[in-house]
Amino acid sequence: MNKMVIFSGSSNLKLAEKICKTLKVNMGEAFVSKFSDGEIRVKIKDNVRGKDVFVVQSTCPPVNDNLVELLILLDALKRASAYRITAVIPYFGYARQDRKDQPRVPITAKLVANILASAGASRVLTLDLHAGQIQGFFDIPLDHLYALNVFYNYFKKMEPNDLVIVSPDVGGIKVARAYAKKFNAGLAIVDKRRNSPDSTDVMHILGDVEGKNVIMVDDMISTGSSLVEAAKALKRHKAKKIYAAITHGILCSNAVEKIENSEIDLLVITDSVPLSDKKKSKKIKVISVGSLFAEAIKRIRFEKSISVLFDSIGG
Ligand code: R5P
Repeated sequence: MNKMVIFSGSSNLKLAEKICKTLKVNMGEAFVSKFSDGEIRVKIKDNVRGKDVFVVQSTCPPVNDNLVELLILLDALKRASAYRITAVIPYFGYARQDRKDQPRVPITAKLVANILASAGASRVLTLDLHAGQIQGFFDIPLDHLYALNVFYNYFKKMEPNDLVIVSPDVGGIKVARAYAKKFNAGLAIVDKRRNSPDSTDVMHILGDVEGKNVIMVDDMISTGSSLVEAAKALKRHKAKKIYAAITHGILCSNAVEKIENSEIDLLVITDSVPLSDKKKSKKIKVISVGSLFAEAIKRIRFEKSISVLFDSIGG
């Protein structure tokens, strides 16, 4: 372990601390601040020459600052002669623009993959990417973790019966099917249309939710529109309790207020993105992926298999 150093950017210090605590290692020291014009300034305080280095940074809001901070940390570590640098990105932002679905639009997920490698990342460790295919945008090794087992362990304590797993959109079917298999539950799909980045309409519910408890599963909640509109439709179709298991709780603009006034009984998110005090709510429960990341980091360090940590969400 003494060959390994874990650093944290400023996006998710608490998660990085949990990872270090679980692995019983001290966090590497880096000085991160800003010049008066806003440029990010970094100095790695520990000697990392020949070390196996991990940098924990979610590219959550403020997305651009967090992304650039990660790039600059990678650059500093590369120039300090680290032997291997793993970018640990619990939430990988800019992932939703992952294809040219209209003329003259970028593919930001690919752009970010390229710049991470150019900045110095030798490999990437991440969780519940917006789309599994994003793995292929990286020409460096990428390990993709799933929060499925973390959610399963939480919900199974509630002993839910008559359960149906719901995908809030057609794109999430594969993931929802994996959850349904794990929970031994039924499956339903919300047919949603996105009117604008901030608003959605639900067209149909495919599957039977009448009299059932449901868990909606998705990679992220941003404005909350998808989830809240889906919950309304599920209630119209006479679902009983409505839970949601969403890996990345971005919860921007008035998402928390929307959740509080919605049909959702409980939203469970992970700590891949930190939840600020002002976003705390009785309807929102945060569970930790700290141990999952700690174990994955340990396995990368000792060149062991990672796939044993999760049920992969395959075809
Ligand atoms: C969409 O494809 C994603 O999986 C999420 O459903 C979506 O990004 C959530 O966005 P919002 O909370 O703004 O509806």
